[in-house]
Amino acid sequence: MSNLRIPGPTPCPPEVLQAMSWQMMNHRGPQFGSYLNDVTAGLKTIFQTKNDIFVLSSSGTGGLEAAVVNTLSPGDKVLGVSIGVFGDRISTIAKTYGAEVIPLKFEWGKAADADDVAKALKANPEIKAVLVTHNETSTGVTNDLGSIAKAVKKEGKLIFVDSVSSMGSLNVPVDEWGLDVCVTGSQKGWMVPPGLAMISVSDQAWEANKEAKMPRFYFDLARAKNYAEKNQTPWTPCMSVVYGMTVAIEMMLKEGLPNIIKRHERIAEKTRSNAKSLGLELFADEKYASNTVTSIRANKGLDGKLLNKIMREEYDVILGGGQQILEGKIFRIGHLGWVEEADIDGVFTALKEALPKAGFKGE
Ligand SMILES: Cc1ncc(COP(=O)(O)O)c(C=O)c1O
Repeated sequence: MSNLRIPGPTPCPPEVLQAMSWQMMNHRGPQFGSYLNDVTAGLKTIFQTKNDIFVLSSSGTGGLEAAVVNTLSPGDKVLGVSIGVFGDRISTIAKTYGAEVIPLKFEWGKAADADDVAKALKANPEIKAVLVTHNETSTGVTNDLGSIAKAVKKEGKLIFVDSVSSMGSLNVPVDEWGLDVCVTGSQKGWMVPPGLAMISVSDQAWEANKEAKMPRFYFDLARAKNYAEKNQTPWTPCMSVVYGMTVAIEMMLKEGLPNIIKRHERIAEKTRSNAKSLGLELFADEKYASNTVTSIRANKGLDGKLLNKIMREEYDVILGGGQQILEGKIFRIGHLGWVEEADIDGVFTALKEALPKAGFKGE
């Protein structure tokens, strides 16, 4: 088996893969209803929320689209906080549906500054919502979401969070931080294949939903809420992935959220210190370095693309590359979901040999 170390899709435990092979059943019958019910209850524990949670059949981006179209109207002003590819993406979705996005961009590799968010909200009081990524997978940076949310809530605005690559791996206390909409995807920390987006919706977001005029059909959350009352989804769901999710959630609850968070911290710390001891330089501002993905500079003669090719072809270790302006400039090691120290040891044993072959002249 390859050592799949991209930041999603992530490897799945055998128990999850086995569940994915269960026979089909009536998606509106009591057994599947109980699966949906269990999954939703488990998600509420991990999201640390009493808010509604819906399981949508889509990748994470569908969940982000649902967040936008269910709460906003064309012409609404929103603050688009971005520190990388995915921060830009949620703003693009909002623009596509007619929102007026006021951008607040930070240098890639750095985190967003909560004071700047507060200033932007004061300067533009008509802003209705703030769009922000918690963990920016493209740069390996985790925003200080607690402080950002505090600034947003102080002004009484809505906050929509792309927590695709953080929820289920990092601490994201939705109710404590007052996060109105939070989105994640099954292929990230959840140890399940791609196919489901999970989204939480606060009371304030439901209030906004009453006025929201953006067009929507497949991702209409009011419709999802009606069906959820019967333990159903409006449309035929991605059933096999829900099967997998029932088992994954059970495993996660057994490990316990605090232990999951600690495991991610420990493994990320090990990844960063191993990288530095090989003479590699971290790309992310270390104060905000992500515990789900580590980004490393391709410098000191290192050809990042060649490195990933050598790692794949000679060592069967699959690493992530840089996206957009970071193509060839960084490489990334994913460490979220079903991951242990041994997986990271495997990466570094291979890296030690592969780095000089890819031109690296560090010590
Ligand atoms: C932070 C973040 N947001 C959004 C997405 C998009 O999710 P998907 O590819 O599941 O649509 C990803 C996936 O890599 C991500 O890491």
